[in-house]
Amino acid sequence: GAPVEVDISTLNPGEMKTVEWRGKPVWIIKRTPEMVASLKKTDGKVADAESKRNPEEFTPEYARNEWRSRKPELLVAVGICTHLGCSPSSKFTPGPQPSLPDDWEGGFLCPCHGSTFDMAGRVFKNKPAPDNLQVPRHMYLSDTKLVIG
Ligand code: FES
Repeated sequence: GAPVEVDISTLNPGEMKTVEWRGKPVWIIKRTPEMVASLKKTDGKVADAESKRNPEEFTPEYARNEWRSRKPELLVAVGICTHLGCSPSSKFTPGPQPSLPDDWEGGFLCPCHGSTFDMAGRVFKNKPAPDNLQVPRHMYLSDTKLVIG
């Protein structure tokens, strides 16, 4: 598949945009400072905080950090659960989401078997999903132009 170029100039903090790449949904999330700070709190609760599991498949070298991204405020991740491929929901998804508990802080919850992921797509401990969400290869051409693939 060809790389996909995305204009992120209109993406505000706390917003998510979905684009298609190789037939998969790719989420681009502009994290707020609070969301970035939340990663420190989830560090000890996620199964693979430093993305050491299957790094070739799931986490490019430049994303093997706490944020799982090139820039702390921007997450680029494939929106497919690493368990059996369902679509996790999030607080960014419009419309009612009965599967999300009221007190749930995010980031993502898979409705199929209950895997949850933090704001860096890191899977929480003792969940069926074996891996963090995939971070696709990506780079920035400028502050407002992202290329996926
Ligand atoms: Fe997501 Fe099973 S497919 S938890």
